[in-house]
Amino acid sequence: MITVKNPQQIALMRESCKIVKETLQFVGENIKAGMTTKEVDELVHRYIISCGATPSSLGYCGFPASCCVSVNEVVVHGIPSDRVLLDGDIVSVDITVEKNGWQGDACRTFLIGNVSEEKKKLVKVTEECFFKAIENLKAGTPLYDIGYAVQTHAESHGYGVVRALTGHGIGQEMHEDPSVPNYGKKGTGMRLRAGMTICIEPMINMGTYKVVTARDGWTVLTADGKCAAHYENTVLITEDGVEILTL
Ligand code: MF3
Ligand code: CO
Ligand code: CO
Repeated sequence: MITVKNPQQIALMRESCKIVKETLQFVGENIKAGMTTKEVDELVHRYIISCGATPSSLGYCGFPASCCVSVNEVVVHGIPSDRVLLDGDIVSVDITVEKNGWQGDACRTFLIGNVSEEKKKLVKVTEECFFKAIENLKAGTPLYDIGYAVQTHAESHGYGVVRALTGHGIGQEMHEDPSVPNYGKKGTGMRLRAGMTICIEPMINMGTYKVVTARDGWTVLTADGKCAAHYENTVLITEDGVEILTL
C-alpha cells in the first residue's frame, strides 16, 4: 500500500529527516583513517540519541547496529565491526532515524584521506545519479523514470547498477511501497503523486552489477570485489517538483 502524507505528517518527517542530515554532517566532520567502523556507529548512535530520536536500524530484522557502514567492496548493509578505516577507503554510512513515529533515511559515501581518482569518480557519479533522477521528478512522473535516469547515467560511465536492492517508500515504516529500482524503462510504472515520500538510493558498482551476500546474512558485497558507492535521500513529491528532506 502506498501512503500519501498530509501536511502534518510531512512536518514530522521533515523533523526526522533533519536529524538524519545533521547526523551525516557530524559523521563527515569526524570520520577519519584509523577509526573502526564500530567507532563510526558509536558516533552515529550517540548523535541520534542526543536529538531525542531513535536509530531505526538497531534491531531491524535483527540488525545489530545503529547504522550501516560499508567500506569499498561492501555495497550496503555493512555491519559495524573492528574493521579499521584506511587511507584511500571509500565508506558509505547509511542512517535511518525515527522520531515521533516517523522515519528519515539517507546515505553518503565518505572519502578517507587520499582517495584514488578512480574511486572519487565513482562516488561523484553515484551522487550525480541521484540528481539526474530528481531533475524532472514531480507529481505525475512515471515511477520507473527514476531508475531510467540512474541507469543511463551510471552505465554511460561503464558502471554496474545494483539490481538486487532498490529504493523504497518511507513514512511510519522505514520500508514502504513502492519499491524504487535504480534501473528501468522510461515512461513506465505507476505515476507518482504529491505527498508521496520515497527514498532514492543509487547503489553503483565500479565493475559488475552483481552482488553476493556474506555468511552473516547482511553484508552485501560486489561479486567481483571492486568498489561500490551509495547515495540516498528521502524525497517528498510535490505538484511541481520535489523537496529533498535529508539535504
Ligand atoms: N537504510 C537502509 C535503506 O536505505 C536500510 C537499513 S537496513 C538495517 O533502506 F538493517 F540496517 F536496518
Ligand atoms: Co538507507
Ligand atoms: Co533506504
